[in-house]
Amino acid sequence: MRLSRLVIHGGRPLIGSIPVSGRKNSAVAVIPAAVMATGPSTLANIPDIADVRTALEILQALGVRWEWTAPHTLRIDPRPLRAERVPAALGKRMRASYYLLGALLGRTGEAVAPLPGGDDIGQRPIDQHLKGFAALGAEVAVARGDVRVAATRLEGARIYLDVVSVGATINLMLAAALAPGVTVLENAAREPHVVDVANFLNAMGGYVTGAGTDVIKIRGVEELHGAEHAIIPDEIEAATYMIAAAGTGGDLLLENVVPQHLEPVTAKLREAGCEVREEDETLRVRSTGRLRAVHVKTLPYPGFPTDAQPPMTALLSVAEGTSVITETIWENRFHHAAELQRMGARIRVEERTAVVQGVERLEGADLRGVHDLRSSAALVVGGLIARGTTRIFGLEYLDRGYEALAEKLAGAGAFVERFDDDDVRLEPEDILPGSLEG
Ligand code: EPU
Repeated sequence: MRLSRLVIHGGRPLIGSIPVSGRKNSAVAVIPAAVMATGPSTLANIPDIADVRTALEILQALGVRWEWTAPHTLRIDPRPLRAERVPAALGKRMRASYYLLGALLGRTGEAVAPLPGGDDIGQRPIDQHLKGFAALGAEVAVARGDVRVAATRLEGARIYLDVVSVGATINLMLAAALAPGVTVLENAAREPHVVDVANFLNAMGGYVTGAGTDVIKIRGVEELHGAEHAIIPDEIEAATYMIAAAGTGGDLLLENVVPQHLEPVTAKLREAGCEVREEDETLRVRSTGRLRAVHVKTLPYPGFPTDAQPPMTALLSVAEGTSVITETIWENRFHHAAELQRMGARIRVEERTAVVQGVERLEGADLRGVHDLRSSAALVVGGLIARGTTRIFGLEYLDRGYEALAEKLAGAGAFVERFDDDDVRLEPEDILPGSLEG
């Protein structure tokens, strides 16, 4: 049996530099967008992570051809597209498989995908996506766990989103790009990856304006052609390492970032007493001494990102004073609290709020990778900060979104080793309850 684990000998400052990969949540949207074209596209800065590999498996099942032409560069040729059904087993593995609904609806007028899976962080409805598809003229049916959308003819529409949703904004942008007429999305998400997808659509001959504001206008075009595009850096990967550097008293340079995308995180780290210097495409994080408690409230961009909340919670568990962390995006995103408590953290969670009473130090412990990528990242931050050895079992959630995590951290002086080998003999007590659930 394959039992992956990370072993971290904590307490060493992160010093040096870490290159940041392309943004997961952009890649998983831009890849389906490439399926809408009449010819091949070349996508650069694609991260080598499990979610991208799942997206590519789905493309393969649809008949779409792809190849890595260089590290992190993908060529996608959608011309052989021959199916409109996302296989259930693959679609459930990754929430972003719902982008194939918008992409295929626009391109072929029909799409079927399983109700999406993904991390266990809340109910995660897709009602706003479906409401939007219906407004564009599609028939929407949900049966036996599948969503089917179909239209003989789409038509641009004015759509008001009841909640600010990144997924719904992007999905509707995709479908509307090939829907005759003008679509206006109101109360749209403003995340930089929404802009990234809009830029790619425009490079393909689409006509999208206003991305990055809360009103996006899409003038449907007859066809989209293949294009070249480099996706933006992953601000959550960067934030995770910034936070780890802050917690270990490090001095770390993050390479290949857009500092502006990280402003909410930078602002909080500064408030906590950490030095952050911004330059063109780099950020330098330096911290000496113990940080101060700060209050954090997650909000849609440009607010503090929910995806950086778990690592931030780990950091604040050793800050001086009491921090109050409010999670407004997901109803169930404090899985990391119980594991951090095993390390000595004092965290009280009540519904969507965590009250974190800073302790002097965390102690290494055996932890179980939790069913949320970012909560798993919080355990890594905890392990780096803690004194002694931490072992994290069950890395499949981390693997979905962090490329070469152990290597990148080791390159900045951390003592982190990953074990995947099937032949390592583990004692029964090494296997924590639930560590194999995935
Ligand atoms: N919502 C609805 N109805 C919908 C869609 C969303 O009520 O139809 C609600 C959600 O329940 C949530 C809020 O709206 O309370 C925001 O959800 P959103 O649609 O923005 O999230 P998402 O598109 O499903 C993406 C990222 C998440 C990230 C959120 C918020 C991808 C593949 N996932 O999810 O990333 O937390 O935006 O920024 O882009 C991660 O990377 O670890 C991750 C979970």
